[in-house]
Amino acid sequence: MSKNQKLNAWVEEVRAMCQPDSVVWCDGTTAEYNEMMRLLEEAGLATKLNDAKRPNSYLFRSDPSDVARVEDRTYIASRRKEDAGPTNNWIDPDELKKTMRGFYTGCMKGRTMYVIPFSMGPIGSPIAKIGIEITDSPYVVANMHIMTRVGTRVMEVLGSDGEFIPCLHSVGKPLAAGEKDNGKWPCAPIENKYIAHFPEENLIWSYGSGYGGNALLGKKCLALRIASAMGRKEGWMAEHMLILRLISPEGKRYHIAAAFPSACGKTNLAMVQPPLKGWKAECLGDDIAWMKIKDDGRLYAINPEAGFFGVAPGTSYSSNPMAMDTIRANTIFTNCVLTDDKDIWWEGIDGDCQHGIDWKGREWTPKKGGEVGAHGNARFTAPARQCPVICSDWENPAGVPIDIFIFGGRRTRVMPLVHQAMNWDHGVFMGATAASEPTAAALDVKQQLRRDPMAMLPFCGYHIGDYWQHWFEMGDRLGDKAPKVFYVNWFRKNDQGKWLWPGFGDNSRVLKWMCQRLDGKVGANETPIGFMPKAEDLDLTGLDVPKEDLAELLRVDVAAFKGELADLDAYLAKVGDRLPARLAKQVADYKKRLGA
Ligand code: GTP
Ligand code: SPV
Ligand code: MN
Repeated sequence: MSKNQKLNAWVEEVRAMCQPDSVVWCDGTTAEYNEMMRLLEEAGLATKLNDAKRPNSYLFRSDPSDVARVEDRTYIASRRKEDAGPTNNWIDPDELKKTMRGFYTGCMKGRTMYVIPFSMGPIGSPIAKIGIEITDSPYVVANMHIMTRVGTRVMEVLGSDGEFIPCLHSVGKPLAAGEKDNGKWPCAPIENKYIAHFPEENLIWSYGSGYGGNALLGKKCLALRIASAMGRKEGWMAEHMLILRLISPEGKRYHIAAAFPSACGKTNLAMVQPPLKGWKAECLGDDIAWMKIKDDGRLYAINPEAGFFGVAPGTSYSSNPMAMDTIRANTIFTNCVLTDDKDIWWEGIDGDCQHGIDWKGREWTPKKGGEVGAHGNARFTAPARQCPVICSDWENPAGVPIDIFIFGGRRTRVMPLVHQAMNWDHGVFMGATAASEPTAAALDVKQQLRRDPMAMLPFCGYHIGDYWQHWFEMGDRLGDKAPKVFYVNWFRKNDQGKWLWPGFGDNSRVLKWMCQRLDGKVGANETPIGFMPKAEDLDLTGLDVPKEDLAELLRVDVAAFKGELADLDAYLAKVGDRLPARLAKQVADYKKRLGA
């Protein structure tokens, strides 16, 4: 029980509906975390890793049907369908609640119901929002301990009449009398999963999945879908962006926020370590930014999260050493390979694995053309404070003033390494029309290439046309203090399928060019898509990129861009009459520049 009557009433209502064996109010302590792990080991779901190699860390294997977000099962249930817009699934909120109440009734039988008070943002800060997640998953409790600020201090701030965002979650697998999970990851079949948002009530209901953004409701559900809708009403922004601080040899600080689609490089760029003499970088966040305009007229960003839920495959000491150090201890791993010495392994980590247990729990040896050992969306959950380059301001409630916005995506062809917007409206156009190839971060995305506006396609909690209008209006309020906008693509390949750009740490070379553009220290070539670096202005010291590859990376293939105009028109036509006139004007200007 709490001092908050509204909360008590909600918890009681949920208890009566879900019928758990017992109710536990979480306090966020280490003892509680350890108890979750003990229960999860006992249930055969957690494997304790070798304490000498990976102290206080655990491996989980989820059900093969429950390995990533499920976009087809994710809903924005606004009163009016048109307010959810063309990019969201919609069901009438009353109807959806009726259906979900059917699933929720008795769904926690045989389980404990946990009530998790959490804060997105530093506890008590004016920017922070309080959520209460009710869940029947000890795995979710433990992950929430890392990803958010959980505990009694949140309850104190909430007090007797504070506001909170109710987040209801169940794995959707009641246990019969005497039944145990017995090593089988509990979840419901895909067609019974629902990740539901009621933006007009600031309410989240999730059923049937225990994994990632489907289940850790502070992250995508609250901090992006619900927060984006709140931000529009209240005049601020919730974006799918990393936040980093770059420091020049002269000690000048640049704050950068970058929006790339899921599994397209945010965690890696957030922790980038420049190989350039005198340049330093620090991490503030790797996935979500909440941004407000302050009295000085600038846009300030905070990271509402407290941990990293990062993509494991591809992470290594050569690609992302800071992430490797972050996950040395106190980390939860999901869907990685278990090695014979009880450590974890995945494709792309340093060194080979000759034998182990794969993410499906089977004996595994690597074979050419055989199955991978770790799932493509295998992840680590680790506290942000463990990152060796975490910025001293990462929990500063005032946030950091953003100088640069970057959009981008994963495109093996056409899109060059970097280009700069000519002005704010053009930058909004670049973000709105961003496109990316599919990754393993969503279970049901199979298209070759899809538009992912501002990397928010699966995360914008309202009509995408209104969202773009909100971007234009933020730009009007920011005026000449608006961040400068760039677009990058680290993922170009040649015809043999080889990366044209080395990526990772070397991406900081592109960031340096951006900073120099802000300071007027370098010029640019004006092209139909925007300003682009002159080859000699990119600092490639110590790097071995063949001249012809660099030329290809910095080339605008006008014919190829023209060839994509039909797709662009079809995409924007779906937005209908809420397409902002200013975006339509950008499209017309763009076509003119291309000579179309
Ligand atoms: P979410 O957590 O899903 O939002 O993903 P993210 O945007 O944080 O992506 P992340 O940094 O985890 O990268 C995803 C995958 O892309 C990993 O396998 C990385 O190794 C790979 N990757 C990241 N940056 C680069 C790069 O510069 N070049 C190449 N080739 N691969 C990269
Ligand atoms: C993403 O898919 O963008 C993620 C992982 O950051 S999840 O939390 O599962 O959404
Ligand atoms: Mn993400």
